[in-house]
Amino acid sequence: MPKVAYVLPDGAVHEVDVPSGQSVMDGSVRNNLPGIIAECGGSCSCATCHVYVDEASRAQFDEPSDDERELLEFADGARPASRLACQLILSASCAAVRVTVAVSDD
Ligand code: FES
Repeated sequence: MPKVAYVLPDGAVHEVDVPSGQSVMDGSVRNNLPGIIAECGGSCSCATCHVYVDEASRAQFDEPSDDERELLEFADGARPASRLACQLILSASCAAVRVTVAVSDD
């Protein structure tokens, strides 16, 4: 099962196993981790699941859709490594994934 390390804004790191087929957002919400709010429940319309994907983990995911890119354009603190965690679906072939939860100004 893929293992995801979530680096929280305070620097704490939580590692959890997330079943393949679920998203990086699901893994956070189902384990009650703070930081990823996921207001829209994963329908790519809120950007409250904004994370930065570590460079070594990026190739394990599909490229962002146009909708995701548009939302990220307006997200606080957007960077080249920005992704929406609800759009990061883990596959059985995913090795360890590491993401840093973005801090929102809201
Ligand atoms: S949970 Fe709303 S965009 Fe990801």
